Amino acid sequence: MNIIEAQNLTKEYKRFKRFPGFWGAMRTLMTQQYSKVPAVNDLSFKINAGETVGYLGPNGAGKSTMIKMLTGILVPTAGQLFVRGKIPHQSRMENARKMGVVFGQRSQLWWELPMIDSFEVHRHVYKIDEKT
Ligand SMILES: Nc1ncnc2c1ncn2[C@@H]1O[C@H](COP(=O)(O)OP(=O)(O)OP(=O)(O)O)[C@@H](O)[C@H]1O
Ligand SMILES: [Mg+2]
Repeated sequence: MNIIEAQNLTKEYKRFKRFPGFWGAMRTLMTQQYSKVPAVNDLSFKINAGETVGYLGPNGAGKSTMIKMLTGILVPTAGQLFVRGKIPHQSRMENARKMGVVFGQRSQLWWELPMIDSFEVHRHVYKIDEKT
């Protein structure tokens, strides 16, 4: 079963042209001039049940944008996306009950936890046996 299926998925952000100052802010609101920022371009892949997948790319490659579309926070500009057969942004609540997302952790250790607990968490995530 495909848990995740992306077909020609594309996301473009709109970056609104901003004018400085109070009257500038009014002008920003009135003119609504924007440029398009490509974030995800024509991406297709499938992930099956039980697969463990890494998603790598340089800064600004579009990784976070992709995850946000998977969770239904962002709506794709083009293409199709299915999570457990559902369109994420149309079934956001239902989808969220079956999904866990952790964003950004520069360090692999948590300040709030004793070091052994951080190791223990990672041991489970990476399925490493206790002895190792
Ligand atoms: N809200 C936004 N409005 C406009 N452009 C955005 C927005 N969020 C991201 N972008 C742009 O979209 C592109 C992809 O950004 P994204 O954050 O998805 O990349 P990333 O792979 O997660 O990067 P990083 O490794 O730095 O986390 C970049 O060019 C970024 O500047
Ligand atoms: Mg990111």
